[in-house]
Amino acid sequence: MLKLTSTTDPLWIGRALANMDDILLDHAHCEKKAASTALSLIFRYPDRPALLLPLSRLAREELSHFELVLDHLERRGLKFVRQKPSPYAGKLMSIVRPLEPARLLDTLLCCALIEARSCERMKLLSEHLEDPELSDLYRGLLAVEARHNTTYLELAREYFSQGELTERFHVVATHEASILREAPDVPRLHN
Ligand SMILES: [Fe+2]
Ligand SMILES: [Fe+2]
Repeated sequence: MLKLTSTTDPLWIGRALANMDDILLDHAHCEKKAASTALSLIFRYPDRPALLLPLSRLAREELSHFELVLDHLERRGLKFVRQKPSPYAGKLMSIVRPLEPARLLDTLLCCALIEARSCERMKLLSEHLEDPELSDLYRGLLAVEARHNTTYLELAREYFSQGELTERFHVVATHEASILREAPDVPRLHN
């Protein structure tokens, strides 16, 4: 498991619990986006065979998470609608260098960090939610998101040396932490 360079602000969980409808809707969008990102990497790198099966499996798991969260939305009488996304992922990806193979390394590291942050936040939700169904949802998901973090790192190791990976990881993880420090005060999974 990759180490985040910051831990979540203790105020985040209180805001999240007070706005669980927003968090759940955002979560559904995040799972859909995670599936789409994995699939887009399969399209972008047909010449990198080590990516294909792990990312195909990961995309299917993210879609199954999307379906799970849709069920929970429906149970709460909520509709899946558009929502202003957190700027987190867009700002994080802004660090991706445009030329290959740096672009691949940076994208895999950003994806690994998103999975790690999701995992950290889902653990907080599972520990603090009083609704047993929602708490179980997050307890179940966080183990899978931790494995996704490992998958993205293993894929990076397929194509890059440990030295390259460690050096760039430090830069991207520091960037990730700085985005969260400046994030707007809106209830989102990654705010
Ligand atoms: Fe997921
Ligand atoms: Fe994931």
